Amino acid sequence: MISLTVDLGPRSYPILIGSGLLTRRGLLDPWLRKRDVLVVTNETLAPVYLEPVLGLLAGSRTGSVILPDGEAHKTLATAGYILDALVEQRFGRDAVLLSLGGGVVGDIGGFAAAIYQRGIDFLQVPTTLLAQVDSSVGGKTGVNHPAGKNLIGAFHQPLCVLSDTDTLQTLPERELRAGLAEVVKYGLIADAELFGWLEHQADALLRREPAALHHVIRRSCEIKAAVVAEDEREKGRRALLNLGHTFGHAIEHCAGYGNWLHGEAVAAGMCMAAEFSRRLGWLDQGEVRRIRSLLSRLGLPVDPPATDPVDFHHAMAMDKKVIAGQIRLVLLREVGEADVVSDYPAGLLAEQLGTQLRAG
Ligand code: NAD
Ligand code: GLY
Repeated sequence: MISLTVDLGPRSYPILIGSGLLTRRGLLDPWLRKRDVLVVTNETLAPVYLEPVLGLLAGSRTGSVILPDGEAHKTLATAGYILDALVEQRFGRDAVLLSLGGGVVGDIGGFAAAIYQRGIDFLQVPTTLLAQVDSSVGGKTGVNHPAGKNLIGAFHQPLCVLSDTDTLQTLPERELRAGLAEVVKYGLIADAELFGWLEHQADALLRREPAALHHVIRRSCEIKAAVVAEDEREKGRRALLNLGHTFGHAIEHCAGYGNWLHGEAVAAGMCMAAEFSRRLGWLDQGEVRRIRSLLSRLGLPVDPPATDPVDFHHAMAMDKKVIAGQIRLVLLREVGEADVVSDYPAGLLAEQLGTQLRAG
């Protein structure tokens, strides 16, 4: 088992990564100490993983909430359903909420934990590659609003993240690929060596070879943990983790939540960010091609869908990185180095959106 630490002083916590962790009785005891636990999961995962997880909670009073599956259910109404269960099943302030699932369950469960009785402890047991490399780490929780992605939320760090890599063997192919988009993101913003490694090992990852999966989960979590430790509340450097996300969130929003997977939208969004970086004279055409080529090999989309550029721009303007009406973008200086930029020529962005979105 690999154990990493997200170093946040008194709120520091471990990320445990390994095979067979869901069968290791007692593994969560140091954080539970026999406290009541509400497990939040969804209808797809419950039949397969709820029982093993309940086995990890022996000694605690447990309850469970089984949510409908999908991004379309990442809403305040669904969070309310969890809060109702906490109240009805009489969970107190010392209870623990455990999110078992992908980023959707992790984000909603974490949000319910952040606001129930002004905040209760929570544990993340991520079961998608995306959640194991990204969403379970760092304490961003929340739900979507009809006007935009993740507009309602709270920072609430977990007590521990437990990533059993065996769960990835049941993950649908399309979801595995979506998770790989976030791994490519780490290479692009912080680690040119990881990007090069991905170019050589793409097939091993797609075959789900355990050693390759362990490598990318570990390296991604190391990078994310370091960024979060430095800038927990996204006052600066943490914004780099949003490479491709301002474009990507607009794709998700305009296409209707659930039609494009988050990771797919991020993949096309990173290509849009790379193209804009090229238009600003930062990247050359060869680097843009290299990025598109790796994402294509991983089976990810590299172009946005045909969309009205005005609607798209409006969706981008709902992004949480907007300050004083200016859309801030994460752009690439080179593979392995990114920057947050707000003083770019607006006309240049409008021109790119006009060309790319009509071609879609
Ligand atoms: P998801 O949670 O919707 O899971 C994808 C699908 O796979 C679902 O149908 C789920 O039921 C299924 N699934 C999950 N684990 C499985 C398994 N082991 N075997 C079989 N099926 C399984 O999607 P996701 O990609 O994990 O997460 C996307 C969400 O994460 C988005 O809402 C995004 O905004 C959010 N996100 C949050 C952060 C953060 O920092 N909080 C970061 C990145 C993304
Ligand atoms: N996924 C972006 C962040 O955690 O900051």
